[in-house]
Amino acid sequence: MAPLALFAALLSSLSLVFAQDLGVPLTWREFNNSRLLAERISIAEDAINTILPQLDASDASFNGIGYWQAGNVFSAMANFDHLAGTTKYETQVINGLTMAFGLYKNFDQYGYNDDAMWWATAAYYAYRAYGNKDALSMAVATWTHVSGYVVSVADATSGTQPNKDFAIAGTCYGKTMAGGVFWQPTSDGTSINSITTGLYMTLSAFLAEATSDDTYTDAATLSAQWIQNLQINSDGIVLDSVDGEDCTRSASSWLFTYNSGKALEGLSVLKDVTGNTAWTDLMTNIAAAAIKSSAWQGDNGIITEGASPTSNNDGVGFKAVFIRGLDEVSVRSSDNSALQILIHSYNDVQYNALLELAAKGTSYSSAWAGPPQAFTTWGQLAALDVMVTAINTNSP
Ligand SMILES: *[C@@H]1O[C@H](CO)[C@@H](O)[C@H](O)[C@H]1NC(C)=O
Repeated sequence: MAPLALFAALLSSLSLVFAQDLGVPLTWREFNNSRLLAERISIAEDAINTILPQLDASDASFNGIGYWQAGNVFSAMANFDHLAGTTKYETQVINGLTMAFGLYKNFDQYGYNDDAMWWATAAYYAYRAYGNKDALSMAVATWTHVSGYVVSVADATSGTQPNKDFAIAGTCYGKTMAGGVFWQPTSDGTSINSITTGLYMTLSAFLAEATSDDTYTDAATLSAQWIQNLQINSDGIVLDSVDGEDCTRSASSWLFTYNSGKALEGLSVLKDVTGNTAWTDLMTNIAAAAIKSSAWQGDNGIITEGASPTSNNDGVGFKAVFIRGLDEVSVRSSDNSALQILIHSYNDVQYNALLELAAKGTSYSSAWAGPPQAFTTWGQLAALDVMVTAINTNSP
């Protein structure tokens, strides 16, 4: 390398190093914990066992939460076993997935591609935890179904999409819409959003890793490009939605943890599947921005989004999806100890808040900063991923 080129290369690698601040903010509340592995496993198990009496095995629902949220309970159960190295919930998880897949074609109960993807993702986690081939088949079938609602490169060029009855926007804001995934399968549903696309991107990357089939890698890449091109604001946070017919954007104030969280999870897998460090850089930048965003937390670092003591709402469980995505980033970032320390510190803030400020016995309020309250299914759902992640991101 010529000296000048070497200098330029050094400069660009330096600018990457300084592009994001991975330091732990000292204003965060209790960002460490000294609980040993056995105790962390038992705290997570108790949290799961506290929600299980709400399970209605006849339709795989949980009393008090909605369909997509139920899929996320099964995800947390499978991930518990994956991280604890156990099979405690295998029967319930496989039975729940099989029941829902039998009742609702491609896991789609209400006509939403993201619902289908939440459950398909749970099925993938079950395959990862238990090696269950039926679970993998359910994930693949649902992936294939939702693939019919992706804007392909050809669709973006032609301005048509085979399953939509309107002229689609091939480009928005000067960028191709290829890779975006329609939220609803109905022929007149125009919304394309980050969560459906992020779920699809993540499942594609997981399936690429599991099967080495390039079809999945290409799909994950196209959808990751859509998020990168269109959905990241100037602070590095993932935005919500763009209309696939007229390009109308969701309000810039619509910032939700799960959009960044799901994108992070998928990018962490995609960078491993492709070995492309551009995805590592994007992942690291979004992680640093989202972990420190004032959109959903104050100086103490405790996530306040979706705190809802008296009734369930969709936003309650967003933060759980964020924490789960960060765990996948941490697992796949052994080459970046600063990022791993930031993630485990952040999860410890949430963990300690839940245990010290929001707990009544083994049940947790959806208001992580407290006060504690009697059990609610939605509060418990939201806490599960923090408890499960703490098995993993702390040591020993
Ligand atoms: C954090 O670390 C300090 C010093 O080691 C320790 O005393 C404290 O108990 C830890 N906090 C938690 C919540 O484990």
